[in-house]
Amino acid sequence: MSAFFPRNFRKRYPVIKSAKGVWITDTDEKTYLDGCSGAVVANLGFGVKEISDAITKQVEQAPFAHTSQFLSEAALRLADRIIELAPAPFQNGGRVYFASGGSEAVETALKMARGFFVETGEPTRNIVISRWPGYHGATLGALSATGHLARRKPYLPVLKAPAMIHTDYRYRCQCGAGPESCYNDRCSIQRADELEEAILLHGPNNVMAFIGEPIVGAALGAAVPGKNYWQRIREICTKYGVLLIADEVMTGLGRTGANFAMQHFNADPDIIALGKGVAAGYQPLSAILSSAKVSAAFEAGSGVFEHGFTYSGHPTSCAAGLAAVQYVIDNQLVTHVAKREYDFFLRLETLKKWDFVGDVRGKGYLAGIELVKSRDTKEPFPQSFKANAVLSELAREEGLLVYPGSGFIDGSLGDHIMIAPPFVIKEDEMEELFKRLEAALTRFAVLVGDTFPRAELKQTLLSV
Ligand SMILES: Cc1ncc(COP(=O)(O)O)c(C=O)c1O
Repeated sequence: MSAFFPRNFRKRYPVIKSAKGVWITDTDEKTYLDGCSGAVVANLGFGVKEISDAITKQVEQAPFAHTSQFLSEAALRLADRIIELAPAPFQNGGRVYFASGGSEAVETALKMARGFFVETGEPTRNIVISRWPGYHGATLGALSATGHLARRKPYLPVLKAPAMIHTDYRYRCQCGAGPESCYNDRCSIQRADELEEAILLHGPNNVMAFIGEPIVGAALGAAVPGKNYWQRIREICTKYGVLLIADEVMTGLGRTGANFAMQHFNADPDIIALGKGVAAGYQPLSAILSSAKVSAAFEAGSGVFEHGFTYSGHPTSCAAGLAAVQYVIDNQLVTHVAKREYDFFLRLETLKKWDFVGDVRGKGYLAGIELVKSRDTKEPFPQSFKANAVLSELAREEGLLVYPGSGFIDGSLGDHIMIAPPFVIKEDEMEELFKRLEAALTRFAVLVGDTFPRAELKQTLLSV
């Protein structure tokens, strides 16, 4: 037995042997279709030669350099390439700071926001407002901003007191929408207006930043807010001089069919955190974008951002990132995902033939399926049943990887799985994905006693 410290000592994990495209093989020779890009990371699938070549070249030339001593061509070029893709406030003076993972990116973004106010002479600002549900990372600062009780619970005594508002979670909108999601824009604006209340409660001079995922990933299964939600949030941040941080660790660089998911909502953040897809899992890498305004505060101020990791701007990671971003651009993968979104969601919607498929939501190639005991009442499964884990295990048995999540309704109830295939998945592989998913759902249906299609669908089927 290995001395490796696993995530869960009670679970048996397969050992990966090889991977190519969207396929992964373990040491027992079982193959899996990667239906969730790992944890929404491996956006380009496996075996992209341009990226492994770039890594090899960098390792042979200069694998590492500490940013206090040297910069690298790879880091300099990648920063420019990312800024070229970024929204207007990041042009003409925007900068990119590199770190190794999403949690580090969020920590950096939060410290950058604090640094901004120290530099601009408003040192009383120190509070970060975030949302419930939401996920920002595993380190203590990022976890303090994370709205997910199960992840917070063991660490509560060492976390900062939360300052949170509700996420715009339309499926369970408090206006009492029926079995479908609420599409009333007024409700979304009401959710956004909670930010103003929170700022006034904590005192505008004390609040430094608001952080949120444009589309909530791991904590809420690809929940898309109302179309005016982020614009309203932007207005409120501007009104009170609060920095808006977009956590695009999961959504950034094409996952939702746009370079940045915030672009779907026409709202410009002040700081953007990227991770996962930036080097598509070929190396650990994340990036923090500071708008021209934020960068200028440091440049014109003390000139120093008091922060840094040993692996900030790691040349080999940046070489992988540069090749990965270039691959996305050369193959027009962002447009490709946007074009495929319609068919993808059409297929996903058909899964509502099962009563336990409560909601299907998301954007681009980021989809969430919320599992419920009954679609009409939206009653969740009991926590003890662990519906998300049961279904993802069934999918794994069928040779399909999906990304499960839970606890978003009240800290314990609420189950979802996410489907987020690599951008490069081919048509026949997408067919195979749905075939395996349907096989897993059929077995799940037997487990929960939902062996017949919904009444109206049954009617349609009978009349065909
Ligand atoms: C939105 C978001 N922020 C931050 C993180 C943390 O990233 P990492 O696990 O790379 O530290 C994640 C990871 O899932 C995420 O989805």
